[in-house]
Amino acid sequence: MFTLEDKFRLIEEKKKQAELGGGEERIKKQHDAGKLTARERVELLLDPGTFSEIDRLVVHRCTEFEMDKKKIPGDGVVTGYGKIDGRLVYVFAQDFTVFGGSLSRTNANKIIKLMDLAMKMGAPVIGLNDSGGARIQEGVQSLGGYADLFYRNVMASGVIPQISAILGPCAGGAVYSPALTDFIFMVNHSSYMFVTGPDVIKTVTHEDVSKEELGGAMTHNSKSGVAHFIGDNDEQALMMIRELLSFIPSNNMEDPPVKTTTDDPDREDPDLHDLVPADANKPYDIKTLITSVADDNYFFEVMPHYAMNIVVGFMRLNGKPVGVVANQPAHLAGVLDIDASVKGARFVRFCDAFNIPLITFEDVPGFLPGTLQEFGGIIKHGAKLLYAFSEATVPKITVITRKAYGGAYCVMSSKHIGADINYAFPTAEIAVMGPEGAVNILYRNKIDNEKERTRIIDEYKEKFANPFKAAELGYIDEIIYPRETRKKLIRALEMAENKTHSNPLKKHGNIPL
Ligand code: HXC
Repeated sequence: MFTLEDKFRLIEEKKKQAELGGGEERIKKQHDAGKLTARERVELLLDPGTFSEIDRLVVHRCTEFEMDKKKIPGDGVVTGYGKIDGRLVYVFAQDFTVFGGSLSRTNANKIIKLMDLAMKMGAPVIGLNDSGGARIQEGVQSLGGYADLFYRNVMASGVIPQISAILGPCAGGAVYSPALTDFIFMVNHSSYMFVTGPDVIKTVTHEDVSKEELGGAMTHNSKSGVAHFIGDNDEQALMMIRELLSFIPSNNMEDPPVKTTTDDPDREDPDLHDLVPADANKPYDIKTLITSVADDNYFFEVMPHYAMNIVVGFMRLNGKPVGVVANQPAHLAGVLDIDASVKGARFVRFCDAFNIPLITFEDVPGFLPGTLQEFGGIIKHGAKLLYAFSEATVPKITVITRKAYGGAYCVMSSKHIGADINYAFPTAEIAVMGPEGAVNILYRNKIDNEKERTRIIDEYKEKFANPFKAAELGYIDEIIYPRETRKKLIRALEMAENKTHSNPLKKHGNIPL
């Protein structure tokens, strides 16, 4: 008969076995590859001592391929809850040392249990992915497990924040769970994502491509736009997740967390006076303006390596998180192209879903012309940004710093599509198009000398390339001096704090996908 001591010892043994995962040798292999183990990752991610594990003793039920002889408590995924900055989060971490972190039926059930809890309690789910994909020995049961997760990802979308870190392989259909979440973090040189790997690609299209080039962290952060953040190692990526969470609420019924600040809300920055060059064709860095107005000059940029002609990210104004969307004149003159439109639209929708006010800084010469853009569907992709801004019901404040030309004027959170306060700098140029283009069309074949052309362009600039016409019409609420931007934004945000606005009831809209 078991004594009480025997029972306690048995529990300890099983716990230890679970903690060892695939064993010392595989843990060493994981470390040698520059990766942390699932448990080390969870410990680093959460506030010290706050992790409560669930389902530590769960094992798989597969009997094929002699799997009944290979059972490891936990079955390749560590699940539980804990705290980040004192706030509840749920976390699952795939353990590559156990069957390559592959997803079994029971393994999926553990994650499902976690997600169901997170939905009931209203707290974020963070997934630390490091897996060989569907557990091959389990066949369709594993696929079913994935599909159950996908369904829950979709149901949770816009209700609780979902964050994915890719900290190892993530291939095949497995990539679609992270793809359905709000933000993806990757680690340089140790993580990769692809639907079909290099070998399959070689067979089908005869292309030679390395794993890193095909689906490495930089590929997805700079080329595909699949990932939002890149860390140099596991630890840095995990710290960035903590940082991101500090800007966002735990669920869609809460406001974002306030962080008290000593930064004066009325602080002015005289250096902004000549930020915007007198020459409208000269670039400047919009991030100078963003960091100048932000609390403690701190801006947490999202997707910094992708579609750099638009800048998105989070900052705080007088302690309150806001989402920033800004055209970047220092990159492709801040033009809106397909990638920038999609990047901006997705960010706007995230902020709107989670009650994060939107600040838009606008300096955009228009949509990028060209067959590549037109054939690529700039019409429908540009429409996404228009749709996202129009649909957003959070407080929306816009500052036009320089160019607001054409359709881009309408799209970038204009008064007409629901912005609450629209400011313009004295340097703003709000018109159907730039002076040169306008004169070329209006005076085609009618001007025969350059002097005359310059005179007419100057006349157009004086008449249209300024903020006054828009201000006369009330499309701009106030023309402000650059130095007072922070103060003006904070006042407008305070004014809009209790905004209640809802769109017509519907099943869902039909954003142009
Ligand atoms: C079961 C797996 C596994 C899997 C890896 N392992 N992937 N076991 N099912 N999917 C096991 C290996 O057998 C090995 O066990 C251990 O994990 C470590 O794997 P290695 O190959 O030794 O590691 P490494 O060299 O680092 O290579 C990692 C890898 C490779 C690139 C991930 O293992 C691999 O290609 N795995 C298969 C990937 C795959 O095609 N998955 C199915 C994708 S389709 P031992 O005991 O030898 O240490 C998919 C469909 C999802 O996922 C659909 C959703 C709709």
